[in-house]
Amino acid sequence: MPFAARMNFDFATAARILFGAGRLSELGNVARSWGNRALLVTGTRPEPGARVTQLLRDAGVTSHRYPVTGEPTVAAVTEAAMAARAHHAELVIAIGGGSVMDAGKAIAALVTNHGDPLDYLEVIGAGQPLLVEPLPFIAIPTTAGTGSEVTRNAVLGSPAHRIKVSLRSPRMLPKLALVDPELTLDLPESLTATTALDAITQLIEAAVCLGAHPMTDTLCREGLLRAVEALPRAVRDGSNLEARTDLQFAALCSGLALANAGLGAVHGLAGPIGGRFHAPHGAVCAALLTPILQANLGALRARDPRGPGLIRLRRVAHWVTGRRDATAEDLIPALQALITPLKVPSLTRLGVDVADFPELIRQARRSSSMQGNPVVLTDSELLEALKAAG
Ligand SMILES: [Fe+2]
Repeated sequence: MPFAARMNFDFATAARILFGAGRLSELGNVARSWGNRALLVTGTRPEPGARVTQLLRDAGVTSHRYPVTGEPTVAAVTEAAMAARAHHAELVIAIGGGSVMDAGKAIAALVTNHGDPLDYLEVIGAGQPLLVEPLPFIAIPTTAGTGSEVTRNAVLGSPAHRIKVSLRSPRMLPKLALVDPELTLDLPESLTATTALDAITQLIEAAVCLGAHPMTDTLCREGLLRAVEALPRAVRDGSNLEARTDLQFAALCSGLALANAGLGAVHGLAGPIGGRFHAPHGAVCAALLTPILQANLGALRARDPRGPGLIRLRRVAHWVTGRRDATAEDLIPALQALITPLKVPSLTRLGVDVADFPELIRQARRSSSMQGNPVVLTDSELLEALKAAG
């Protein structure tokens, strides 16, 4: 009984999740319960930050806006934490995609944990634990992808090291994840597709990884059933609130699952790729998903044919195809049928240099995601998968 052994788990998430169309309007009252001065982290678009500023003002909360361009760097969040202190911010609110939410999460932690941020960073720094509770942090996603609103880490770029690293602590779980699908109604088609494919990849990797357990399985099943059905509808008609709601819920499930189970080789490789090339994370995941699943299937059939990995892949195939008689192998064509119409670019079209593949594999080996993969893939298996995605 491969799953009975895992009926023993740890599950932690945001202190509160507010989910539903129109619920952004409740932000002001909740924010005021934590203070009267907020640092508001946004992307570069004037909306929806302007709406949040107004909601806060109506509730008597003053906000200082801090726009983040692109993926956050260690230097940018350090500077923003100083701005938050100068503003005497009592809470941090981030509204945007995964990068913006990660920036807000890191800023909330660095405002109260003084010193060099390198003290707290994995890989390039000392990786010390955060000793002081961060400022209360509210995460409001405007894409349906990363699930960062319920995770405990912030991915930061370090251009000097050409790498992305995580600031990670159980203390960094948001105090509130405010998830309003109406905020995703104006997402363009390509962003809808790539962010949803990130969520689908996260749901699949969390469902087959070594850390999967019954709580995360439940989330992965529900998230995948909804995402697979809703993605084509949301791409066809971006104004379909029902499809947007299902995608947003699936993304939330993916964040809840990955933060408590882990991920796999797709994310193991996507981290170093994102650190070296300016390729959108969701597109990288989409390009790698079926090649890595193919590699996992081959390796599990050859080296662990009776283990839980193949059973887990078969269960995911049931959820994705909607067929009880689906085999693990049926998962690949079912995903290709979903992904191909979305015209996701190959890795090389995303700017990834084939000459860097061996170095990317070397870096990926050190990531926690790679260590969660259901089977250890050899260098040649990973190289084959990268070539198939390239
Ligand atoms: Fe991801």
